[in-house]
Amino acid sequence: MSGPLLLAIESSCDETGIALIEGGRRIRANVVASQVALHAASGGIVPEVAARAHLRWVLPVLDEAWNDGGVEWADIDGIAVTHGPGLAGSLLVGINVAKTLAWVHDKPLIGVNHLEGHLYAAWLLDPDEDARPEPAFPLVALVVSGGHTFLVEMTDHLTYRLLGQTVDDAAGEAFDKVGRLLGLGYPGGPAIMRAAADALRRDVTFPRAWMGESYDFSFSGLKTATRRIHDEARLAAGLKDPAEPLPDAVVAELAHGFQDSVIDVLATKTIRAAEDRGARTIVLGGGVAANTVLRDRVALGADRIGVPLIVPRPGLCTDNGAMIGAAGARRFLAGERAGWDLDARPTLPLARPA
Ligand code: KG4
Ligand code: ZN
Repeated sequence: MSGPLLLAIESSCDETGIALIEGGRRIRANVVASQVALHAASGGIVPEVAARAHLRWVLPVLDEAWNDGGVEWADIDGIAVTHGPGLAGSLLVGINVAKTLAWVHDKPLIGVNHLEGHLYAAWLLDPDEDARPEPAFPLVALVVSGGHTFLVEMTDHLTYRLLGQTVDDAAGEAFDKVGRLLGLGYPGGPAIMRAAADALRRDVTFPRAWMGESYDFSFSGLKTATRRIHDEARLAAGLKDPAEPLPDAVVAELAHGFQDSVIDVLATKTIRAAEDRGARTIVLGGGVAANTVLRDRVALGADRIGVPLIVPRPGLCTDNGAMIGAAGARRFLAGERAGWDLDARPTLPLARPA
């Protein structure tokens, strides 16, 4: 494959990811060091701990990616790095490594928006994957992660029109909080998905926040409702000691009811947006897109309206360097170059409301 070969660095949250990406699509190397086990102990991410872990892992991850890719510095056309949104201390680790490498090896530096990375994961091809056509525009994408939940339309590369977003919690954040409530640990998303699969009773309906005709989302009401249903279930089970856990079967029912509500709203709005905007492709991205129930539900809807769906494999939905290389290549080809003043932008927006 032709096109620029980029070294790409992601460190915005709790994953240290470094990749080598050719032509904005082909993965030559993609190494991710996850801090999930580290943050499981505290039940969530502690920013200072995350930043220190990035410092600890960034060079070993770089070494491994470099060895996997089998490239030389002369082959590298540029260095792409996430500069926001995310945790300032974490972002700075990636940015400073990228700047140092760009300075030492005299390579152009490209700043990438983390959210645009999640969108561009749809372009990626694994090392041995057969080439497939690029996603066709206009496309409608749902990005659902621990920090963000939004629907966006892309009419061309790097051209985003925000259709709607969460007015309170991100979907992943709601999964994580409810996971903690149900005693399922951190991160809650995968744990809730596993627990929900075992639910025998599936008739407890949790509320859905439809937010009228808009493409906005809200999950804080559902979180409160889940807490109430949880407390009622504890009472019904005669549990008074807070240390006494709910039976697994009840946890499974609650996990199922909560997950069903979140996914019903996410999938329904995504399909409606794709229909309304005349989308030629639907894309899912972000950590919550690793959820197989969401993937299946959107696939069913996409099939019904006859629009191709692209969902990266789960490892490319959660944070990684490859997606930053895919988005970075588009910025590189558009002639964008970052200066030495490239800085962490914790609240960098993808697109402003139209
Ligand atoms: O994109 P990501 O790796 O990091 C952010 O940019 O936030 O997303 C992490 C989020 C977490 O909230 C996690 O609970 C959620 O993605 N997640 C899932 C699943 N796997 C990860 N949520 C639901 N189902 C899953 N299978
Ligand atoms: Zn992310």
